[in-house]
Amino acid sequence: MSAAIKNVTVIGSGLMGAGIAQVAAQTGHIVTMVDIDEMAVNKAEKRIGDSIKRVAKKKFGDDGDGAAEFISGSISRLGTSTDAVAAVGSADLVVEAIVENLNVKKKLFAELDKAAPSHTIFASNTSSLSITAIADATTRKDRFGGLHFFNPVPVMKLLEVVRIPETSQETYESMCDWGKAMGKVTVECKDTPGFIVNRLLIPYTLEAIRLLERGDASARDIDTAMKLGAGYPMGPIELSDYVGLDTSKFIIDGWHKSFPDVELFKPSPMLEKLVVKIAETTEETLATMNDWGKAMGKKV
Ligand code: 3HC
Repeated sequence: MSAAIKNVTVIGSGLMGAGIAQVAAQTGHIVTMVDIDEMAVNKAEKRIGDSIKRVAKKKFGDDGDGAAEFISGSISRLGTSTDAVAAVGSADLVVEAIVENLNVKKKLFAELDKAAPSHTIFASNTSSLSITAIADATTRKDRFGGLHFFNPVPVMKLLEVVRIPETSQETYESMCDWGKAMGKVTVECKDTPGFIVNRLLIPYTLEAIRLLERGDASARDIDTAMKLGAGYPMGPIELSDYVGLDTSKFIIDGWHKSFPDVELFKPSPMLEKLVVKIAETTEETLATMNDWGKAMGKKV
């Protein structure tokens, strides 16, 4: 019988980290969400506050008291910290969702390995890096695995549970049980690039960008075609933007480096250009775009 996970520390409070922390708190876990500074943590708390209201509305409808209790209960279970080492002191599970950089992840886990109790399970939410390579930084490979969530975490039902050869059966079962306690459906996958979803999704969205690049169809028509012709909730161009063009580029660049002969992993010049353009956008342009969005009556 696997040990139940009660205390969860989530490292990283970006889109994914905040979503994981939110759902863990909503489902009764004691959560500590960690980031490097107060500004990042405050931003995540705001995002969680907005999202949890949407969840409560869906869950409780007109039952205002039920919704208020759900929100305050969840928030009361969610603490924050800017000290990762201190935050893992009583964790049963640590889920890492920081920047997609192998060396940074390894450095973090090497530090946490010394500070966390021996029973603590470590997991990475990496989209495309090797779990084995990350786990190499620790002395607890039997208590290490991948827990890969999907954006938006409060809505997407899937959790990919990734085992490396050293992951013990008990650790694997604990991770699956926790996934179910989080309200997710779990699927098992080996430590293979992109696991299941991203291995299929990233080449698919890249193929859509290539279609656009060749001038075969417009972005709008590609998205409409896949929504209405294949039943996808979002078209591939919108989805690339939703996942983040920089994230898509990062994933494909990494795979291309490791597997240069795989045609589907070849970089797209259009994606390269778009990511450079976004990186070059000045603060002034961004402020003007924000103002324009607000003037259009949109929430920016
Ligand atoms: N928090 C809480 N609830 C949210 C939410 C959030 N962040 N975002 C959406 N919702 C809720 C809404 O409140 C709404 O609830 P309702 O049914 O009670 O009205 C419901 O979800 C639907 O939202 P919307 O009406 O705003 O819009 P849509 O119907 O278009 O759904 C979507 C939005 C769920 C994002 C849908 O478009 C979708 O499923 N898109 C595909 C997302 C996807 O493929 N994600 C995976 C990306 S890959 C990934 O994450 C892996 C990584 O490693 C790259």
